Amino acid sequence: MIEQLEELRSKALADLGQVDDAKRLEDWRVTYLGKRSALNQALRGLATLDASDRRVVGQIGNDVKRLLEAEFVARQSQIDRKTREFELVRERLDVTLPGRPLPVGQVHPITKVVGEIVEAFHGLGYDIVEGPEVETDKYNFALLNIPAEHPARDRWDTFYVKTDGVPIGQHLLRTHTSPMQVRVMERSRPPIRVVVPGRCYRYEATDATHESEFTQIEGLAVDEHLTFADLKGTLTAFAHAVFGAERRTRFRVDFFPFVEPGAEMAIDCHVCHGAGCRLCKHTGWLEIMGAGMVHPRVLEGVGYDSSTYTGFAFGMGAERIAMLKYGIDDIRTFYANDLRFLRQFR
Ligand code: DAH
Repeated sequence: MIEQLEELRSKALADLGQVDDAKRLEDWRVTYLGKRSALNQALRGLATLDASDRRVVGQIGNDVKRLLEAEFVARQSQIDRKTREFELVRERLDVTLPGRPLPVGQVHPITKVVGEIVEAFHGLGYDIVEGPEVETDKYNFALLNIPAEHPARDRWDTFYVKTDGVPIGQHLLRTHTSPMQVRVMERSRPPIRVVVPGRCYRYEATDATHESEFTQIEGLAVDEHLTFADLKGTLTAFAHAVFGAERRTRFRVDFFPFVEPGAEMAIDCHVCHGAGCRLCKHTGWLEIMGAGMVHPRVLEGVGYDSSTYTGFAFGMGAERIAMLKYGIDDIRTFYANDLRFLRQFR
């Protein structure tokens, strides 16, 4: 009887080792611990033994029973855990779920507009160059015919930069990209055709149309026989490329120290086509840039003979162009980093 019980125990444990799902575990329980199991029958048969045998065999039988019950519970929790883990994995791997969109980046709207502008000039044979954001008084002002103490300087509220060994007032954050006119002329000979995109800085209060950091695109063409007609033709081609082939242009006199004559260029409003609307403040025209024939003093300043060479220059604000193009009424939106705004410019 004792041998039988021991055999039963090893068989039950060996079988349990093979059980790996809930259904087979239940079968095992019925077989080894159920009412009609061999173990239960053996325990019921104890009554037929004499008292001392009954005690010994009963003890062993109960030990076997408790052991199998404990093993059953352990196996059950193992299987439960496995089932739960499997279900979790299955949930994670639900192949019917729509894919998660990858966060795709995009260029900033100003970068995009700068790209369109320089691309328009590139198509006209212009090179694209960049220059330093920390400039000297000489390039930002003096060689552009804006002498010290000249009231025209007040147009460019300036951030000055402290540099050891350099007198205050010499180093500054460029207030426009025009200094690159001079740098380009110094290092090359005509014919010159360049556009210069870049960051500029002005010490002034921020409002809907002013930022202390902004982007300009400067342009310069120098050659023999360039006239104001070349300026008009070039800038009109640019306006057509960026604002539409049907745009009309208007040039009116304006003053900038580095050009003579100087002009302000406008296009007819592309929203109302000249009829008058909110964007053009009911004038029908949008001013898009300053321009002019390079001042002879600027040419002479870099050693060019102004009786041989003439040129024209222009400068525009990328933020302003973007605002007019897309009908945006506050420049600060470009740098507030609100993704709902920025995502509209894919
Ligand atoms: N540098 C001028 C500004 O910041 C813009 C400008 C006007 C540039 C006329 C030019 C020009 O080259 O000819 O306001």
